[in-house]
Amino acid sequence: MADIETPALVVDLDIMERNLARASSYAARHALSLRPHVKTHKSPWVAAQQMALGAGGVTCATPYEAEIMSAVCDDILLAYPPVGAARAARVATLPGHVRLTVALDSRRAIAEIASAATAAGRRIGVYVELDVGMHRVGVPGVQDGIELARAVGAEPLLEFAGIAFYPGHVRESVGDQDAKLRTLSDALASALRQFADAGVSARTVSGGSTPTLWRTHEIEGVTEFRPGTYVYNDRTTAAIGACEMEDCAATVLATVVSTAVPGQAVIDAGTKALGREPVRGADGEGFGQLLEHPEVIVERMSEEHGVLDLSTSGWQPQVGDRVRVIPNHVCIVVHLNDIVYGVRKGALECSWPVAARGRGQLALA
Ligand SMILES: Cc1ncc(COP(=O)(O)O)c(C=O)c1O
Repeated sequence: MADIETPALVVDLDIMERNLARASSYAARHALSLRPHVKTHKSPWVAAQQMALGAGGVTCATPYEAEIMSAVCDDILLAYPPVGAARAARVATLPGHVRLTVALDSRRAIAEIASAATAAGRRIGVYVELDVGMHRVGVPGVQDGIELARAVGAEPLLEFAGIAFYPGHVRESVGDQDAKLRTLSDALASALRQFADAGVSARTVSGGSTPTLWRTHEIEGVTEFRPGTYVYNDRTTAAIGACEMEDCAATVLATVVSTAVPGQAVIDAGTKALGREPVRGADGEGFGQLLEHPEVIVERMSEEHGVLDLSTSGWQPQVGDRVRVIPNHVCIVVHLNDIVYGVRKGALECSWPVAARGRGQLALA
């Protein structure tokens, strides 16, 4: 690793492979379809490993992710409203081998994806998104969901394929999620009954997140789950208890560039390497934690500087020392990097591009 220019994103391959295998065996144990969200790794190489371990398809948030993933995957869910003619056209023109599904919550989105489907001559599956407590997207009323499903069914090239929800509001420690999971499960069960009574049965019920990963089977009716962060994990996932710190596969390799100010050291990883992400949405716990010195956190940052608080540590860093920072929210960190370096037992083994970072937009001619 000594030759890698810092700051750099380093992934411990043994840990990543263990994370992937664990989620796959959980899915198999509970007869759930695993459809990992690629927004965390944005890499077809990693997606191919997820597919090889039994994932039936992948989840994407952006058209670019979907385009890049189409090279390794023929079943793609865009779990993001396909609103706007350009976005709808881009997903509708994915390569023909891709079985495409989109999640949406409005008549406008139905109209736009229907006309993109017609223009592309492609069939598209649709999940109707329900709000089950996060209050981000999704219709809050089941009746509204049923009406959207009927509107989907009225479009010749669209097919109502099921219900989607995202339990992003469940961010308690894993052991404290009982009440919210029960409420969610009850709400979903009732919604499914109402859909069935209305004659629009949902073949697939797609939900799941990394904080709720290991309890997905407790949510009644779920058939498919879409964790993303679990591939690498991060400080927030560990704080929630959905993994241990030793399950954090991704770290930012950084160099100590200054120790001139007493009581602190400065590394070359600031906001442009770590993002300004709090742990679990709360300020005060710094912006990353050192792998080798867990008592040390990144207390402050500029764009290219991260200030380490040494007040609780006996460690005396020297300029030129290298450290590895466990990020608070790994998805943002990945997105800030072009390349990921894969290491095994401390030795550099491979590297791969973060191929789906950015938007893949074309400049004007
Ligand atoms: C719609 C949707 N599904 C799945 C996920 C994956 O969640 P997590 O990163 O907690 O695994 C996300 C994350 O943002 C999401 O927005």
